[in-house]
Amino acid sequence: LIDSPTNTDSFFDLGWRRFRFDPQIYNWIEKSIGVARDRLCDPSNADWFRYQNTWFAGVNVLGNDRHGAVPNGPPLGGEAIDYIAHTLGLRDIEWDSAQLSVVFPGYPKPATSEPAAAHRYRLLRDAAHVDGIQRLGSARRRFLGETHAFILGVPMLKTAPQAAPLVVWERSHEIVRQTLKDVYSGSAVEHWPTIDITEIYQAMRRRIFDSCKRVEIWMPPGETYLVHRLALHGMAGWPAESDQAGAARMICYFRPSAITTHDWLFTP
Ligand SMILES: [Fe+2]
Repeated sequence: LIDSPTNTDSFFDLGWRRFRFDPQIYNWIEKSIGVARDRLCDPSNADWFRYQNTWFAGVNVLGNDRHGAVPNGPPLGGEAIDYIAHTLGLRDIEWDSAQLSVVFPGYPKPATSEPAAAHRYRLLRDAAHVDGIQRLGSARRRFLGETHAFILGVPMLKTAPQAAPLVVWERSHEIVRQTLKDVYSGSAVEHWPTIDITEIYQAMRRRIFDSCKRVEIWMPPGETYLVHRLALHGMAGWPAESDQAGAARMICYFRPSAITTHDWLFTP
């Protein structure tokens, strides 16, 4: 497990960074967790449960406003948000409705609908992926889809480090950047989503597994982490043990679409 440096350079160098305990974030969690629990238990969100109810994927379910605030809650603020504004140069961004990702002991159990290889990949490779590269149709081909500016992770509950931590392959973002630049540089941005990158993407992931350091990122509430939009990342499993009744690992992920597709590939 990591105890990473907190200096600002590690974000661009490693493709992620940690922000230490921040009272503004802790206050945001205290005022938002009731809404998060309501969303998790809302029957209209039941379709978000995956892998025999071991993961609530909860994409965009928190329902916060453009400032990151839930009803009667505070806006997002603090060191991480200042870093995004000043170091990434993304001021006054419109926050997306956060993903509420909740994992339970035993994740991942196999889904009945998925190929055996997909389950193996989740077990052995943490379901590693690059956000924005989507899989389409029954042929499972890969194309560029919706892109976003960064991933901000806000752990909501105190959990054990082995509770399905986020996994990042350090320095993979520059491998992804170079690979996709080679693919797209001859085409106008509008055409990028039409280019089938299935084999290139698979070979790139193998190269990253072979050459990049895999780190598990776990933090208590009040700390946050920022992941580079091009970094290969995934989610580790959570080995089930008998004393974990009622345990859950809950993280809010923000992924604002604050940049163009061109900048998604080209800006630091
Ligand atoms: Fe992701």
